[in-house]
Amino acid sequence: MTGTIAAVREQVAQARDRGQVPVGLVPTMGYFHEGHLSLMRKAREECGFVVVSIYVNPIQFDPAEDLKTYPSDFDRDLKLASAEGADLVFHPSDKEMYPEGFDTHVEPGSVAEGLCGQARPGHFRGVATIVAKLFNIVGPDRAYFGQKDAQQAAVIRRMAADLDFSIDIRVCPTVREDDGLAMSSRNTFLVDEERAQAPLLYQALTAARDALARGETNASKLRRIMRRTIGQNYLVELEYARIVDPVTMEPVARVDREVLAAVAARIGRARLIDNLLISPEE
Ligand code: PAF
Repeated sequence: MTGTIAAVREQVAQARDRGQVPVGLVPTMGYFHEGHLSLMRKAREECGFVVVSIYVNPIQFDPAEDLKTYPSDFDRDLKLASAEGADLVFHPSDKEMYPEGFDTHVEPGSVAEGLCGQARPGHFRGVATIVAKLFNIVGPDRAYFGQKDAQQAAVIRRMAADLDFSIDIRVCPTVREDDGLAMSSRNTFLVDEERAQAPLLYQALTAARDALARGETNASKLRRIMRRTIGQNYLVELEYARIVDPVTMEPVARVDREVLAAVAARIGRARLIDNLLISPEE
């Protein structure tokens, strides 16, 4: 484990000298669940040297959000990362990442505007900035992200292409609980009654998928089906239910190719998101 940029650079350079390539990076904010572990496993399978970063990035939270209460258990995370075969865990301080005078950000374009970008202004600017920094610190050949954060993955793919990072962006499937709830560190905020309602998000997505399979290609109708599935539940405050292009995140009117069905809702203290890639061929 290291907290310094210099040590990461040195250890990655040594690994490359030893022929431990490709170098894989799994960027995380810690408090690991199966979703994180699946990214590490994939990286371990595909890479000669695996770096896992654990850093709760303050600039991707706005002041009203849960930065101070974001869950963490660093000792447990360290054990889990090592059990998954990570070669190096990078756990920097805020001072290491944002030293006095830090004044440059990566501003993503239209891909960051809709969906979560609307509800969390500045969020993707914070994500793009920290991910660009991690890319420059680690210099990985491959970087691993979860499909659950589909808009984040699209922002990062766009950034990597636009800023010429020659890094293969791997997006791995969402890992779910038995009842369909997408794994998230934020699920820990749910009390029992709220947890019981949380699978509604996935049910809304599968309802849209099933309606598409029955021939309903009108995106407004699919959105209505998602909203109706979530219904008027007093514990679940739906933020959005959309059908968008999976690369640009632009809304689509008719589903004539693969699209992303995406939902976000507040349940108690947690803001949960989920999505499903659906296509007319299914
Ligand atoms: O998905 C996350 O955990 C974070 O947004 C990331 C990519 C590690 C950047 O802080």
